Amino acid sequence: MKIGIFDSGIGGVSVLNEALHKLPNENYIFYADVDHVPYGLKTPEEIIGFTDSIVQELLSQGVDALVIACNTATSVAADYLRDKYDIPIIGMEPAVKPAVEASKSSGRVLVMATPVTIRENKLRSLLQKVDTDHMVDLLPMPGLVRFAESETFDGPEVEAYIDEQLAIFDRSLYSEVVLGCTHFNYFKPAIKAAFDGATKQTIEMIDGNVGTIKHLAERLGLEINETSFVNFADANVTYLESGRIVPDGRPKDKYNRLHLRLEEVRAF
Ligand code: DGL
Repeated sequence: MKIGIFDSGIGGVSVLNEALHKLPNENYIFYADVDHVPYGLKTPEEIIGFTDSIVQELLSQGVDALVIACNTATSVAADYLRDKYDIPIIGMEPAVKPAVEASKSSGRVLVMATPVTIRENKLRSLLQKVDTDHMVDLLPMPGLVRFAESETFDGPEVEAYIDEQLAIFDRSLYSEVVLGCTHFNYFKPAIKAAFDGATKQTIEMIDGNVGTIKHLAERLGLEINETSFVNFADANVTYLESGRIVPDGRPKDKYNRLHLRLEEVRAF
């Protein structure tokens, strides 16, 4: 099957990476909307417009299903896109439910996401359903999207930003951190380090990628075929950046680098 996976930028590569591990025999088109990143600082109307054009482009390339590899776009545009297009559209939402379940008695849950995801009703209604004991706190981290797009995943600037954002929180209270934006997966080592020493237990980081790919497989009737080694350079993926094909050679090296980074942080 031909599967379209899209995001505002490189965050969605983490979802593609999971898809290549779990559904290695499918064909993928990965679309990064680099001309419009970050979505997390745009209006819902703008995001609906951007994602609508992406879906039209991917449909014209003959995809059988779509994954919105972006919590922000899902929270404002998924319903609109599902109403408009007759194709399976899998969205993402911050993995609050598993985090709340895992945190029972061990600590609080901190959800990191973009300002749009945090403001939108989708997350509010999810919290009303699953956070009955009020164990969840929310933290917008738009700066991490900016760092991610420049492939700065570690180092003093990133550490200082994370520390600054966490300044009003008592880190010792938390046991789970929800990575509610696909761009945040690259920062697992820096986020973990920011909590090390402050909590009794090691912080657990939960993202929605595995759940999203399982959901995709179920919707399409595909069998999960977990493979630990993926040859990313030869994988069956076409990369598009705001509609332009990423050619082989240096431009494509970026995506191979990103997959390697994701392999490094997979075990965190
Ligand atoms: N990667 C996206 C998400 O999962 C959004 C990042 C952005 O463009 O602000 O929310």
